[in-house]
Amino acid sequence: MSIQETISKHGGLEPGLIHARGLSIGYDRPLMEDLDFTIRRGEVFLVLGGSGTGKSTLLKTLFGRLAPIAGNVEVAGVGDPAELRGQRPRFGVSFQSGALFGSLTIAQNVALPLEEWTDLDPATIAGVVEGKLRLVGLDGAGDRLPSELSGGMQKRAGIARALALENDLLFLDEPSAGLDPVTAVELDELLLALNRSLGITLVVVTHELESIYRIGTRAILLDKNTRSIIADGDPRILRDENSDPRVRAFFHREPLGGTRRYTDSGEPEHGDSERPKPAPTQEPFTEAFKPIVKDDPFKGEYL
Ligand SMILES: Nc1ncnc2c1ncn2[C@@H]1O[C@H](COP(=O)(O)OP(=O)(O)O)[C@@H](O)[C@H]1O
Ligand SMILES: [Mg+2]
Repeated sequence: MSIQETISKHGGLEPGLIHARGLSIGYDRPLMEDLDFTIRRGEVFLVLGGSGTGKSTLLKTLFGRLAPIAGNVEVAGVGDPAELRGQRPRFGVSFQSGALFGSLTIAQNVALPLEEWTDLDPATIAGVVEGKLRLVGLDGAGDRLPSELSGGMQKRAGIARALALENDLLFLDEPSAGLDPVTAVELDELLLALNRSLGITLVVVTHELESIYRIGTRAILLDKNTRSIIADGDPRILRDENSDPRVRAFFHREPLGGTRRYTDSGEPEHGDSERPKPAPTQEPFTEAFKPIVKDDPFKGEYL
C-alpha cells in the first residue's frame, strides 16, 4: 500500500504504527522487561544500545519472528505479528548479512517475494524489479551475482528485495555494519530518501553515532543492567541535554567530529565497536561477507 493509500484509508497519518505494551523480550530469561513505546508512521525510529543488550532480539519480536515473553506488540493494527506468518508480508526486513541468495542474480533475488506472494506475470515482475533496483540506485546491476557487487550494493539489493511488495515499513538491523564510511553515508542517504520521499517508516538498530545523528529523529536507548529503556527521544537532544551518566556514556563515547575509532574511555559495553573498522579507502564488504547466505535466516519466508 502506498503512503497515499494509507493516508486516505485511515483519514490521516496514523499516530501509532507499532505499539509495544508491557513488552518483555528474550529467550530463556528476559533481556528487556516491561517496555512501552509507540512508533509513529513516517518515523525513523532507532533502537540503540551496547552489544548484547537485546536490540536484534527486540527487532525480531517487533516483526513477529520471536514471541514476546510477556506483554504484546501491535503492528499496523495486527495484535500479534506472529499471526502474519505465512501471509503476504506487510513490512520489509533487512538483516545484517543482507541475506541474498548467492546463486541467484540480483534481479532474481528481488523477484523472489513477488513470485511467492503475487500472481504477477514474469514481464510485470521484471518491470517491478527494475523499478526497485532503480529506486535503490542499482539500475543495470540486475544480472549480476551478489558476489560481484560491493558491500554497499549488496545492502541496497537487500533493501530493494525488502521493498518489492510495496511495503511502507522497513526493519533494518545494523544496515551500515561492515561498510566503509563513505558507503555508509550513501546508504544512510538512501534510507533518508526512502523515508522522506516515499514515507516509509524505518525501524533501525544501529550503534554508529554518525549514522544515528544523520538519520534518526527518534531513538530509544536500551540498558542491559536495568533491562529497560533509559532514554527515549531525539538523539541530538539526548546527546546534548540528558544528564544520565549511562546515556552520556553512550552518546559521548567518541569525540564529536572525531574519527570512527572508539576510545577506551567509553563504556566497556560497546563490544560491537571492538570489531576493526575498515579504512575509508577500502570497500571490504565483499571480502567480509563472502559467504553471503549459507543458511537462509528466514527459511524461505521473505518479509
Ligand atoms: N537465539 C538465541 N537464543 C538464546 N540467546 C540468544 C539468541 N540470540 C541472541 N541471544 C543472546 O541474547 C542477548 C542479546 O542478543 P542480541 O539481541 O543479538 O543483542 P544486540 O543485537 O543488542 O547485540 C545476547 O546475550 C545473545 O547471546
Ligand atoms: Mg544485534
